[in-house]
Amino acid sequence: MAAHDPRVRQGKRFEMRWNGHRSYDVVATHDLLRRAPGELSAAIGARRVLSVTTPTVDALHGRALQRHLRDAGVDADHFVVQLGEAHKTMESVLALCGHAQRAGLGRRDLLLAFGGGVCCDVVGLAASLTRRGLPYICVPTTLLAQVDAAIGLKTGVNFGGRKNYLGSFVPPEAVFVDIGFLRTLPADDLRRGTAEILKIALVRDEELFSLLTERGPELLESHFASPARVADLVIHRSIALMLDELSRNPYEDRGYERLVDFGHTFSPAIEETSLHRVLHGDAVAIDIAVSCMIAIELGLLPEYEWHRILAAYRALGLPLTSVYCTADVLGRGVEAAVAHRGGRLNLVVPTTVGCATFVPDAASIDRGLLERAADRLALEATARPRATVAAT
Ligand SMILES: NC(=O)c1ccc[n+]([C@@H]2O[C@H](COP(=O)([O-])OP(=O)(O)OC[C@H]3O[C@@H](n4cnc5c(N)ncnc54)[C@H](O)[C@@H]3O)[C@@H](O)[C@H]2O)c1
Repeated sequence: MAAHDPRVRQGKRFEMRWNGHRSYDVVATHDLLRRAPGELSAAIGARRVLSVTTPTVDALHGRALQRHLRDAGVDADHFVVQLGEAHKTMESVLALCGHAQRAGLGRRDLLLAFGGGVCCDVVGLAASLTRRGLPYICVPTTLLAQVDAAIGLKTGVNFGGRKNYLGSFVPPEAVFVDIGFLRTLPADDLRRGTAEILKIALVRDEELFSLLTERGPELLESHFASPARVADLVIHRSIALMLDELSRNPYEDRGYERLVDFGHTFSPAIEETSLHRVLHGDAVAIDIAVSCMIAIELGLLPEYEWHRILAAYRALGLPLTSVYCTADVLGRGVEAAVAHRGGRLNLVVPTTVGCATFVPDAASIDRGLLERAADRLALEATARPRATVAAT
């Protein structure tokens, strides 16, 4: 098909900039691996590359990646390793560093993360440690990583029972987002990815929120294949908003008020307490629901806006609660957030769909409030069996 053919889905290039300088590009593209050489091999250039992926992604897409790099004449080595949330550890990072050493990677060579958010986080951290810093490129293959985990500059692993306790701020050299990988993504992982889109839509973009609510079921059903224009729009808009937010404070050294922390106050405690039976996207969805309950209680969010938000949960099949969403666990989330955010809570809460504010002090959120939030969500969820996760 010719490049001007309307059936050819158009890509888009986003620049991550700060202090007036370009740092890295996020390239939203289609058929990334179809033709060689292409954008990916051009970004690698004459350097050696170690690609890292998981057995699942390797079985589905590994051959296409290897063929693509081979056809483009790239000197590539491939490392396949288990990288679920339970393997998001320093042991995995060290295994990867060991492989990079055995492969003889030099200072100019690079790592390529080819997988979900866990793979991107682990590869980024290994890259930042190896020879005090090798460059890395991300090719995220889950929705969650395409709109969030892979496009920022945070790397990390779980440590001592704490989520992302060890990590670094290291920008990737480039990120290539191909929606086509979502065709093989299991429905539950796809659904979890929509939680991060809902996050950014609720605090920044009412139109994106409406699109997600109205077209979400079709997008999920088709694995973001159709309506193609809507799928592209939702993903491009999410990436643009995320980069815009990140670029205001990329190293989190300009204060601790970050809209992108919406959905990330209670979720780490829920994930940790559940021993990762509640996965990240589901925990974020539950956190958003808890934050909305708190906002209603504090008179910051009108009740009718919550009904619109509930409609989005229904459309996307996102959970409102879990057996781990208790006042105790939520309280632990508050304590950990205060320690992480320089002594203030800075809980992000929506005030309307598309706008948000901060609840700065933990003192505004007493145990009774957390109990009422958890109880009301449990009640809302009884009306909808799929609204509870990990109760099973
Ligand atoms: N660094 C950051 O800024 C940041 C931001 C958000 C989330 N995260 C992290 O991201 C992680 C969650 O990422 P995730 O939801 O992608 O989970 P994940 O990386 O565990 O991937 C989920 C599952 O999908 C499989 N998979 C990946 N691509 C596939 C494909 N195309 N087809 C079929 N199966 C595929 C994987 O093998 C895995 O089983 C969490 O650890 C979270 O903390 C990091």
